[in-house]
Amino acid sequence: MKVSVFGCGYLGAVHAACMASLGHDVVGVDVLPEKVDALSAGRPPFHEPDFAELLQRALGTGRLVFTSDSAAAADATVHFVCVGTPQRRGENAADVSHVDAAVGSIVQVLKPGDLVVGKSTVPVGTASRLADTVHAACPGAHLVWNPEFLREGHAVADTLEPDRLVYGVGTGDAHEETVVVLDELYATVLASGVPRLVTDLATAELVKAAANSFLATKISFINAMAEVCESAGGDVTALADAIGMDQRIGRSFLNAGLGFGGGCLPKDIRAFMARAGELGADQALTFLREVDAINMRRRVRMVDLAREECGGSIAGRRIAVLGAAFKPHSDDVRDSPALNVAAQMQLQGASVVVTDPKAIANAAQRWPDLQFADTVEEALAGAELVLVLTEWPEYVELDPAEAKRMVGEARVLDGRNCLDADAWRSAGWHYRALGRPRA
Ligand code: UDX
Repeated sequence: MKVSVFGCGYLGAVHAACMASLGHDVVGVDVLPEKVDALSAGRPPFHEPDFAELLQRALGTGRLVFTSDSAAAADATVHFVCVGTPQRRGENAADVSHVDAAVGSIVQVLKPGDLVVGKSTVPVGTASRLADTVHAACPGAHLVWNPEFLREGHAVADTLEPDRLVYGVGTGDAHEETVVVLDELYATVLASGVPRLVTDLATAELVKAAANSFLATKISFINAMAEVCESAGGDVTALADAIGMDQRIGRSFLNAGLGFGGGCLPKDIRAFMARAGELGADQALTFLREVDAINMRRRVRMVDLAREECGGSIAGRRIAVLGAAFKPHSDDVRDSPALNVAAQMQLQGASVVVTDPKAIANAAQRWPDLQFADTVEEALAGAELVLVLTEWPEYVELDPAEAKRMVGEARVLDGRNCLDADAWRSAGWHYRALGRPRA
């Protein structure tokens, strides 16, 4: 099939390459010429495992091109909307202007029978409004909402082997024909047994908001338990293991620590609350305010712990921060808890050196006042306190005895509950973590 993908960020670029790998002819459209140039040259503008190989292979087949000229989408019959919906400045609500602009470009090239497929995370009600725009511009064209659930760091696998596909189809959008087109588009994915659900437009939009809210709630729940553990002398990791064995609960997304960040969960729960307020359903989501508050408290608590460990003040102390990305296997630093903690400590007078295997360039752009080190050795050299804030495998697997030889003082705060506490303590480190007892 001939496909266009509007928006070539984390979502769109991966989606475009995956669609080409499924055999479709794909044109990726982005307004930023530097992104188009990089992708066209097979250079991913962000770090995502397996993506560079997939991109280069797809470019090599000739079935994938990138451009900033939206007229190039004129041959396509399926047009994906993959642009971002960031938080509006000074507000909780989502900024859907990029989605509106993408649909505005798509309608210029629409032909009867074409399908516009929304993948961006949007406030419920957006799809129905955009369906009206599409129908008004081209009465024979249709719009569906097909939310994306990919996680950064697993984007390729999540696109090609998702847990489920959701098709939101509106009334008056040729229900059966539309489902047939989407099934054909995803034939290879569906053939591997991936379930697909067909819903109305509002439900499809809400599935995404609800899924992210549930994940955020799970993380804040375990972090609330961590707060209780700290007061009561319990161990939140043992608690998570034990409750996670209940199949109704499950162990995943119960890793206590510094909490959630990134370009999705924080802004999506805020946008969901804002939208519920507009719809008169704000009471239903007031608990998300608490989920957000628990999450933000973790960052403050981490800085408090650092201060405690340094005898009341971190001013003038040399602190090593391992991790800048909001999670491992990503170079994304949007709303990164690790960087937030590093910046708070810097603002309180500490001399903070941050390292990360992939995210230093992005981190330095956002926080130019911080010091950055290319290697763990450089970051640890002479440190009086070490904070592990992103659980990259290279930090989890650090040899505590070797690390001890590099630092000034062997004190470590495990912000992700990812280190082997016993091994670090046996190697002579003073080890502390969020939600776990002191030695
Ligand atoms: C999320 C959703 O998982 C995905 O389905 C959606 O499409 C986009 O938003 P992503 O932002 O890539 O994906 O990251 P995710 O793996 O969900 O992690 C989010 C944050 O939660 C990270 O900062 C991570 O460190 C944190 N987290 C995750 C925890 O603190 N504890 C956990 O147990 C799991």
